[in-house]
Amino acid sequence: MRLAQLVPWSTALASLVASPILAAPEADTSVYHDMETGFTFTQYFGRYSLNNAGITYRIAVPSGVAANTNFDVVLQIVAPNEVGWAGLAWGGGMTGNPLAAAWGWSSGAIISSRWATSHTLPQLYSGSAYQVFKTGTKNNGTHWQITAKCSGCTAYGSNYLSPTGGNRLAFAYSSSKPSNPSSSSSDFSEHSVIGFWNHDFGSAANPTFTTLVAKNLGRH
Ligand SMILES: *[C@@H]1O[C@H](CO)[C@@H](O)[C@H](O)[C@H]1NC(C)=O
Repeated sequence: MRLAQLVPWSTALASLVASPILAAPEADTSVYHDMETGFTFTQYFGRYSLNNAGITYRIAVPSGVAANTNFDVVLQIVAPNEVGWAGLAWGGGMTGNPLAAAWGWSSGAIISSRWATSHTLPQLYSGSAYQVFKTGTKNNGTHWQITAKCSGCTAYGSNYLSPTGGNRLAFAYSSSKPSNPSSSSSDFSEHSVIGFWNHDFGSAANPTFTTLVAKNLGRH
């Protein structure tokens, strides 16, 4: 066992997760058309500091997806370079749902599929998989950005995200880089900020989703 696994993460998180004050009943997202990749996303700006710095989380969905299915999504994260790693919880909490952890690396960025059963370092999770796009993944001196398709992020156990409605998601922020940032299996330290929102998937429908995925996977 690695050291990071032995150190329990803040148990204060458990009370934050349960707090109704942070849960938003209405959609907190806006529509964003990305000229570079061609996707229509809905986006949320997750503030992590009092000077309004934040991480942008964008999600694109295929059109015509039936409810209660495991559908693919495209995730785009844009973060200032001071963000050591950015997390996303597809089920809106730290434990028992697919997690993503992403960070800037070299001229691009890395994303890792994780799962946590307790408030400790999330472990690698093979139930969801990310395919990183060449287009829309970069690192330019002020920001890092990643764009990836996820398979397996919208269904887990008997839980299904809505392809047409709002889904309660959560984000995490840390200023610390992962210990081995070139590897998607790297350990990383506990987040210092978390937040929750209601992400509208209905306005993120893309009729040409499959075509756009193929294009962006291959294009430089
Ligand atoms: C750097 O990348 C970010 C994220 O894609 C973008 O918002 C910003 O405009 C870029 N800055 C420059 C100078 O190109």
